[in-house]
Amino acid sequence: MAEQTVRWGIIGAGIIAHKMADAIRLEEGCELVAVASRTAEKAEAFAREYDIAAETYPSLVERADVDVIYIATTHNFHADNAAFCLEHGKHVVVEKPFTVNATEARRLQEMAEAKGCFLMEAIWTRFLPSMIKLRETLQNGTVGEVKVATVNFGGVAPEHYRGRLLDPALAGGVTLDMGIYPVSMLCYALGEVPSVNGASCRFSDTGVDEVASYQLSFPSGCLATVNTSFNLLMPHLASFYGDRGYIEYPHFQNLGDFTVKHLEGAELTGEETIHTENAENGFVYQAREAARCIREGLRESPVIPVEETVRIMDVLDEIRRQLPLRYDFESAK
Ligand SMILES: NC(=O)c1ccc[n+]([C@@H]2O[C@H](COP(=O)([O-])OP(=O)(O)OC[C@H]3O[C@@H](n4cnc5c(N)ncnc54)[C@H](OP(=O)(O)O)[C@@H]3O)[C@@H](O)[C@H]2O)c1
Repeated sequence: MAEQTVRWGIIGAGIIAHKMADAIRLEEGCELVAVASRTAEKAEAFAREYDIAAETYPSLVERADVDVIYIATTHNFHADNAAFCLEHGKHVVVEKPFTVNATEARRLQEMAEAKGCFLMEAIWTRFLPSMIKLRETLQNGTVGEVKVATVNFGGVAPEHYRGRLLDPALAGGVTLDMGIYPVSMLCYALGEVPSVNGASCRFSDTGVDEVASYQLSFPSGCLATVNTSFNLLMPHLASFYGDRGYIEYPHFQNLGDFTVKHLEGAELTGEETIHTENAENGFVYQAREAARCIREGLRESPVIPVEETVRIMDVLDEIRRQLPLRYDFESAK
C-alpha cells in the first residue's frame, strides 16, 4: 500500500526555511504545499522558487491540504506561531529553540495534548544517523561509565545571521541559538537531563550572551562542560570520558565519523573509528521522523519527546538565570 503523503506548510520565509524546504522535497512521502510570510512579496518569491502556494499566516492554517506546519521564524515568535497552528488543529514542527523559555514550552505541550496534535522540536542533529550511533555506543557501555564530557561548539557567525543573533528583541544570544545544540546532544547521548552547576558568559554590546560556558551535572554522575560562541572560532569537538575508554567526535554536526579509544586503567589498548553516513542535507531525517509519526498517529516523537524538550528548556532557563540574561519581553508577559 502506498504511504500516506504528509503535506507540509512553512511559517517564516527566512534563511533556514530554505534548507527545510529542500529537505521536504527530497523526502519521499512528503510534499511541500505552501509557505507563509508576514510579507506578501517574500512569500511569493519563496513560493516561486519551490513552485508552491504563497500564503499569509492565517490563510496557511486554514488550508485543508496542509497536515503539518514547520515554524521557521525567529525565537521570540515560535510560541505564538506554534500556538496559532495548534489552535487550528495543525500538527507542528518548531525550529530550535522550541520556545524562549519553559513556560512557553509547557503552554504548547498542553495545547498539543488538548488538540490531539503532533508536536516536535526541530533539533535536526538529534535525528542524524551519527548521533543515533553515538548514543548507542555510549549506552552499550563501550567506554564504561562516562564520568566527564566536554563540548566545544563555537564559530564566527556570517554577517547575514548577526542581526538576529545580536538582537535581544528576537531572543538572540548564543545560548538559545547555539548552546542548545551541545546541551540537547549531551541529553540525548547520555539519556538524561542535567542540572546546572554554573553558567557564565561574555555579553555583546547589545546585551545578549555571545560567548558562554556551562557546567552541568547529570543524574548518573557525569560532569559536563560546554563552551559555545557565535563570534569566536572553536573547532567543534565533543568528548566523552569513561572509565574504560573515551570518545572523540570532531565536527559532530557535519561528520559521520567518531573515534573510540579503549583503555585498561591508564593503558591505551585499542582504537577504532565508528563510521556512519549522514545525508548532505541533514534536515531530511527530522522531516522523515515527523512524517513517520504523523502517519502512525503519534502525538510526539520518541527521539525528542515534548516532555524532554520542556525539561531542556528548564535547563536553558536556569543557564540564562545564572548568566544572567532575561529578555525584556519575558518580563512584560
Ligand atoms: N537548524 C539549523 O541549523 C538552524 C540554522 C539557522 C537558524 N535556525 C533556526 O531557525 C529559525 C529562523 O532562523 P533564520 O536564520 O532562518 O532567521 P531569519 O531568516 O532571520 O528569519 C526567519 C523569519 O522570522 C521572521 N522574522 C525575522 N526577523 C523578524 C523581525 N525583526 N520581526 C518580525 N519577524 C521577523 C520572518 O518571518 P516572515 O517571513 O513571516 O517575515 C523571517 O522570514 C531560528 O529559530 C533559528 O534558531 C536553525
